[in-house]
Amino acid sequence: MSSAPATYLVTGACGFIGSNFVHYLLDRVPGSTVVALDNLSFAANEANLDAVRDRIRFVVGDICDFEGMAGLYRRLRPDYVVNFAAESHNDRAVVDPSSFARTNALGAQTLLEVSRREPVRRHLHVSTIEVYGELAEGAPYFTEASPLNAKTPYSAAKAAGDQFVRAYMQTYREMDIAMTHCANNFGRFQFPEKLIPLMITNVLRGRKVPVYGDGLQLRDWLHVDDHCGAILAILHGPRPEVPAAAALDPGLLPIWDVSSRNERTNLEIVHAVLGLLGKRPEEWIEHVPDRPNHDRRYLIEPAKLESRLGWRPQVPFAEGLEATVRWYVDHRAWWEAILARTGELAFDWSAGARATRSGS
Ligand SMILES: NC(=O)c1ccc[n+]([C@@H]2O[C@H](COP(=O)([O-])OP(=O)(O)OC[C@H]3O[C@@H](n4cnc5c(N)ncnc54)[C@H](O)[C@@H]3O)[C@@H](O)[C@H]2O)c1
Repeated sequence: MSSAPATYLVTGACGFIGSNFVHYLLDRVPGSTVVALDNLSFAANEANLDAVRDRIRFVVGDICDFEGMAGLYRRLRPDYVVNFAAESHNDRAVVDPSSFARTNALGAQTLLEVSRREPVRRHLHVSTIEVYGELAEGAPYFTEASPLNAKTPYSAAKAAGDQFVRAYMQTYREMDIAMTHCANNFGRFQFPEKLIPLMITNVLRGRKVPVYGDGLQLRDWLHVDDHCGAILAILHGPRPEVPAAAALDPGLLPIWDVSSRNERTNLEIVHAVLGLLGKRPEEWIEHVPDRPNHDRRYLIEPAKLESRLGWRPQVPFAEGLEATVRWYVDHRAWWEAILARTGELAFDWSAGARATRSGS
């Protein structure tokens, strides 16, 4: 499939990955028409699009609004749809699961239905490694054929969206649908309630870094530009078959796991970031109560993406992490504006699942 200029609808475009993807797309496919849509919910930040505002069409809209989205498709006729729109923060999902079910499950299905009624060239749904649940110690990794086994409200809502994507892939054969499951992303524009920006913004304000429990939870980390590169490769890749055998083997569906096989404990990440900030971990780390039901480990295998589409991660972890830390140091006004709007973003789980933000 060509990467000639076309019209791309990017939903969740004011969030972390969606906004990075808008920048990436404009760089890599010059001349594209980019429609950037977001409903401006809690984690949205319009400033992420400031540098490209005059090169995109920005729309405030909600993927759960069928009529509104269908009208937008009819007006702007997107060729490609990339759905990043989601409620994405695991901590917040424990406190308020309903808003997660609405966007991550119902919104995913609503947008698929709009793409079915107002056909597009390809609809790509962005999902997450977390739908596979927890990986046993010693188990090698998850693949596209692994069963969904969500165990948190966030991943359950994402997995419900996934099930609709799988059902649409197999029921509406005229549609061209792809889905990704990606490892944990890091990079610029990440909302400062997530581990890496939370740490950096705490330290830059002279505050300690909260580490959940023992900090030995294992995560699979990928630079956000590599996720964007994988999405673009999938979007422009050949039209995949959906064979009948996919009914028994989901590995045959157009689902792509995205990872650089980079497994680290949270504590390793904290030590690396503190090192880059020139701080001594023993002085800056504060172990705090863990989130209830926190996944211990997950890791996925990107072999299908590598062998079928030739994708390879381009950003070595150490370089990506250093550039990310530097970006938050250099863009203090960006994150100070968010904190001025939201207040403190760390959660305090000392009162269990009913806890809210520390200090609130
Ligand atoms: N951050 C990660 O490490 C990671 C890893 C793998 C997959 N993902 C997936 O990537 C996607 C984007 O994640 P992110 O980290 O950029 O999240 P984010 O929270 O930073 O951004 C999500 C954006 O979606 C918008 N949004 C929420 N509900 C909406 C709705 N109903 N209609 C329109 N817009 C809506 C929000 O306002 C926000 O701007 C999510 O689907 C997430 O599950 C994230």
